[in-house]
Amino acid sequence: MKHTVKITPSMLSSDFANLQSEIEKCNAAKVELIHIDVMDGHFVPNITIGPLVVAAIRPYTDIPIDCHLMIENPDKYITDFVKAGADLISVHCEGAIHLHRTVSMIKDLGVKAGVALNPATPLSYAYEIAEFVDFILLMSVNPGFGGQNFITSFLRRCKQLRNYLDSNGLENVEIEVDGGIKKENLEIVLKVGANMIVSGSGLFSGNFAENVKDFRKIIFAQEIVTV
Ligand code: DX5
Ligand code: ZN
Repeated sequence: MKHTVKITPSMLSSDFANLQSEIEKCNAAKVELIHIDVMDGHFVPNITIGPLVVAAIRPYTDIPIDCHLMIENPDKYITDFVKAGADLISVHCEGAIHLHRTVSMIKDLGVKAGVALNPATPLSYAYEIAEFVDFILLMSVNPGFGGQNFITSFLRRCKQLRNYLDSNGLENVEIEVDGGIKKENLEIVLKVGANMIVSGSGLFSGNFAENVKDFRKIIFAQEIVTV
């Protein structure tokens, strides 16, 4: 099964003082998803955005909002993010003690559920939960900050995960890559099977619209090769 490639700008690298116009750039470029990095200062060393900000941007876009919860005890906040307008919610394996219960809660609220794995989290976590989720988020940096370097073990891990999903009747589960994605490594992450492409500094540094266009050219070239 071939998944559509979805460009997913991480708003963490946008200008927080002008969030409305940053969202409008996403609308104009017709990106497929908008990625919101939620950090609590406990699960990761940084503090960022909560449901109030998601609710504030919701009226300015129809693009599905993808909330990446890098927080402890996510169950406590999931309903708030859904009420605020999240369309997809991912939680980290190590953040949710009863992962299956958390994923079920997300799905019961009518939004898409994902589980995120850090670069050193064994892939077996994904294998155990894959049949219950819509996507697996494989981190290609340690979560906490934008603008970090891509960790290349992602390539081996993503290939292995895609093969596992495809050979176990879980072709419909999508793979999201997050961290250090730029024009230079986009082709290779597509090749190993990622289709939800998060990029923060790679899209917001310089001209956003031009960067999205460049991403699309690479995606298009890749799709022609694999048809
Ligand atoms: C890292 C966040 C990422 C980050 C991506 O903890 O989950 O979404 O903002 O930013 P870049 O693309 O700059 O690595
Ligand atoms: Zn993220």
